[in-house]
Amino acid sequence: MSDKVYVFDTTLRDGEQVPGCQLSTPEKIEVAKELEILGVDIIEAGFPISSPMDFNSVIEISKAVSYPIICALTRSVEKDIDFAADALKYAKRKRIHTGIGSSDYHIKYKFKSDREKILERAVAATKYAKKYVEDVEFYCEDAGRTDNEYLARMVEAVIKAGATVVNIPDTTGYCLPEEYGAKIKFLKENVKGIDNAIISCHCHNDLGLATANTMAGVLNGARQVEVTINGIGERAGNTSLEEVAMILKTHKDVDLHTNIDSKHIYALSLLVSKMMRMPVQPNKAIVGRNAFAHSSGIHQDGVIKHRENYEILDPEDVGIPQSSIILTARSGKAALKYHLDRLGYSLEEARVEEVYDDFLKMADAKKDVTDDDLIILIEGSLPEG
Ligand code: KIV
Ligand code: ZN
Repeated sequence: MSDKVYVFDTTLRDGEQVPGCQLSTPEKIEVAKELEILGVDIIEAGFPISSPMDFNSVIEISKAVSYPIICALTRSVEKDIDFAADALKYAKRKRIHTGIGSSDYHIKYKFKSDREKILERAVAATKYAKKYVEDVEFYCEDAGRTDNEYLARMVEAVIKAGATVVNIPDTTGYCLPEEYGAKIKFLKENVKGIDNAIISCHCHNDLGLATANTMAGVLNGARQVEVTINGIGERAGNTSLEEVAMILKTHKDVDLHTNIDSKHIYALSLLVSKMMRMPVQPNKAIVGRNAFAHSSGIHQDGVIKHRENYEILDPEDVGIPQSSIILTARSGKAALKYHLDRLGYSLEEARVEEVYDDFLKMADAKKDVTDDDLIILIEGSLPEG
């Protein structure tokens, strides 16, 4: 039996803190219900101390969903933890996510403190959260730039204090995959009690490495991934849920699985993009407009002969009905014939050759050729009405 990787969705917390992406409580409830249908294991519903609306959203999301664990974020501050515990009171399954900066940048410039005092605060916050809930996740903020020996001390101390999940965020998106993977391996090999907790990857995409780093973490023993729909999140975003879910589904060789029902991915991507007014880049992996669109002649010919010549994923698996063959001036005769057949014109090869020359002139002039353009090409005009 393959190992399970827990999917912790933070679209409604790390994603929602992006300027312009704020959602109302009813909108958050709608997204949370869809996340439940998608099969995420944990929903990070908000940061309750941050505003009355965020506090209320965590309450309402807790009431609205049943299966996923509802998680609330805090700093290592007692008042934050009190607020989080109160906001989680209706959750059927609940988790407090507390933590503190662990890198020397944060310790020196953010907290104006020292490593030992920060370690004490980490342990105290974990113990305090533990008074309210059994399930406590601890984040070592900026772990990506934290010295591994010190990180291991912090992780060991919070596990001893009761943390059930230890989150190793690459907060600034700094790490290389080898480096992040080695960090997780180091913790696995050097922290006493590490097998009593789940290691979680929380990566940011500043250098475009969030998914690669998350995968490196998982391949080195992490069993929870912190992700968002469409990879939305602070600055360049977070690791995208759809990418990790489809990597694990496609690469049977790594022998890991998630609970994600991938057929719901595309609908949720559209919903989040629309609600958060955040367009998805056309070439975004899995859910971008061009993710299953073939436009060059060689690729089109290959896909028409056999889909898997140029597709490693089945679009239906992520809820996209089919791949598309786009007609442009780079298209070949196979693509033209494919579309003419689809429109009901079964032309002899010689006739396709003739039409192809006219098609190329049209495509050069128009960039994209539509069904109506093809009908005009064959019939001379569109039918009446
Ligand atoms: O990026 C980060 O470090 C975070 C933590 C608060 C988990 O979002
Ligand atoms: Zn983050």
